[in-house]
Amino acid sequence: MTTLLLLAHSDFTASRANRALLAGLHDQSGLEVAELYALYPSGQIDFAVERERLLRADRLVLQFPLCWYSTPPLLKHWQDAVLTPIFYGEPDTAALTSGLPVLAATTTGGPSASYRPGGPAGTIDELFAPLRATARKCGWLWQPPFALHDVRTLDDAALTRAGEDYKSAVLSMPMLERRLEAVT
Ligand SMILES: Cc1cc2nc3c(=O)[nH]c(=O)nc-3n(C[C@H](O)[C@H](O)[C@H](O)COP(=O)(O)O)c2cc1C
Repeated sequence: MTTLLLLAHSDFTASRANRALLAGLHDQSGLEVAELYALYPSGQIDFAVERERLLRADRLVLQFPLCWYSTPPLLKHWQDAVLTPIFYGEPDTAALTSGLPVLAATTTGGPSASYRPGGPAGTIDELFAPLRATARKCGWLWQPPFALHDVRTLDDAALTRAGEDYKSAVLSMPMLERRLEAVT
């Protein structure tokens, strides 16, 4: 069983929060991490590689620091480069991913108060409406998002606890139920 984690951080070497979240998953069997900015520094995503990676996945995690209230540009580009050809051109491939559970996990510099209902930024659920709609369009199973706020104020112990919470969120995701082809 493979958990595919697409990590989209434009400067992961300088990361504290996303690094801590990922550290929480270090002992997870079947975890495949694709660090998009490291794999594709020029921004040219390899469709064939990413298509196969997606087809291996029994669950999908999108992890990124919030970037202007949205995903970092390379994760948006992954949607354009990978999802567009599959979901508008390869119905058989698309069908193979039907029911894929997907979790969006983000870190924010802003405090949780900024993301409260009616707050200045709107809630994370509201901000992730395009991702949720994309997941639905793809026939995927949208999971409640994971968010870690105010990350610059968090000490190492708090980051370690966040990594443990993240691990629980990932472990509680269902797995893709693959339909077995009838043998005739
Ligand atoms: C270009 C850019 C845009 C950002 N946009 C937001 C934002 O919209 N909301 C927010 O709360 N934080 C924003 N931040 C702060 C990052 O989310 C924060 O630095 C990151 O989550 C820290 O994670 P890390 O320690 O893994 O780098 C932004 C940071 C950068 C560099």
